[in-house]
Amino acid sequence: MLEATYHFPKGFLWGTATAAHQVEGGNTNNSWYAWENQPGRIHQGQKSGLACDWWGGRWKDDLTQAAEDGQNAHRLSIEWSRIQPTADTWDDDELDKYREMLSGIRDLGLEPMVTLHHFTDPLWVYENGGWENDETPVQFANFVRRAVDALKDLVTFWITINEPAVVTNGGYLEGSFPPGKSDLGAAFKVIRNMLRGHAAAYRIIHEIQPDAQVGFAKHYRPLQPARPWFPPDVWITKFSSKSFNDGFSNALVNGKFKFAFFSADVPEAVGTQDYIGLNYYSMDQVVFKPFAVKNVFQRRYYPPEVQVSETGFIANRPEGMRAALKWARSFNLPIYITENGVEDSKDGMRPAYLLEHLREVWKAANANWQVKGYFHWSLIDNFEWERGWSQRFGLWNINPESQARTRRKSADLYAEICHENGISTQMVMKYAPESLQHLFPQ
Ligand code: BGC
Repeated sequence: MLEATYHFPKGFLWGTATAAHQVEGGNTNNSWYAWENQPGRIHQGQKSGLACDWWGGRWKDDLTQAAEDGQNAHRLSIEWSRIQPTADTWDDDELDKYREMLSGIRDLGLEPMVTLHHFTDPLWVYENGGWENDETPVQFANFVRRAVDALKDLVTFWITINEPAVVTNGGYLEGSFPPGKSDLGAAFKVIRNMLRGHAAAYRIIHEIQPDAQVGFAKHYRPLQPARPWFPPDVWITKFSSKSFNDGFSNALVNGKFKFAFFSADVPEAVGTQDYIGLNYYSMDQVVFKPFAVKNVFQRRYYPPEVQVSETGFIANRPEGMRAALKWARSFNLPIYITENGVEDSKDGMRPAYLLEHLREVWKAANANWQVKGYFHWSLIDNFEWERGWSQRFGLWNINPESQARTRRKSADLYAEICHENGISTQMVMKYAPESLQHLFPQ
């Protein structure tokens, strides 16, 4: 049989992505800790607890393994509530610990990409109304100044805020994230303030570090009308996509922020991204539902013929990666896939998912689209927010009680991909033979 390899461009970044609250353990001073301690908020009342014990030092073993497996980059986040535990105190020891971690990451030959806000707010910010409060973008900017000043020699790639639209959706529409509201007006306020916080952070980072690369991580969710011939489905699909997918990013181009029925001028946001950080997991069909107010007049589903992950959370739809890349390309900036992955404790679906999504990334890179790197979510199973430990996104399995790690076969596959800087017929034959014809059509 024909042997072939799709090679990625030289210097392509290969990594995995993590977030502080999900892996560090011992984060007891933020909004998510408060949320975990409210009954009924997290799957089976589970807690982040020790998480993957990265704060206890286990980041070193996990990332040493990642580097041995050919990765050359790692995306992580730093926890605001550790660095600024109250409105008027700073903890420089915690910043030193991040310095130690980041120099360790560099010594391992991994390029760090650092997120400054990944879903959690310090408790004092949360208790002051979180991002509904107009002071929060200012507070966030102060934190960014302090953190970037301390870490600037170790970090080139910064992500200001992870998935503002997901924070807004979860916290202010669906109510599954803190503070559990369902209030469209509050949602608008929150995301507009995140836009302000992002813009301020962008300028501060460049002021301190002119050569930095600064962006935010956009969860792009391609949406399709369930019945393309039915105008209400088409309308609700466009309406949602404009708010969720385009609102924040378009404001960075034209200073005009549009979200649901609201709009605002945010001129300071213009030109505040150096690259597109793209998180892609799956895509949905959308049905108009006039009475589903909390779900913004819709129901979403995966078509019955597509393969769906074990908790039904993610469908394997690589064509959505293509659509996401196409969207990202329209900004004419370098693109990094900052998250992509699937929950799959038995690792039955992940190899094909990984290879099929990477083929779309390769197609884009091969057509000279500026795709520069890929960060798989995630290196190791970690605390999956309101879904607790019920979803396993890791290349490695973890037992959070014993902290024992077990390698999944996808870790071997990803190591081969990173070492080869490409995907080959041999890899497909070995790990996902069912995808061979699709990936290497003959
Ligand atoms: C978030 C991650 C999360 C992942 C899988 C993304 O939306 O950024 O923190 O773990 O999805 O649920």
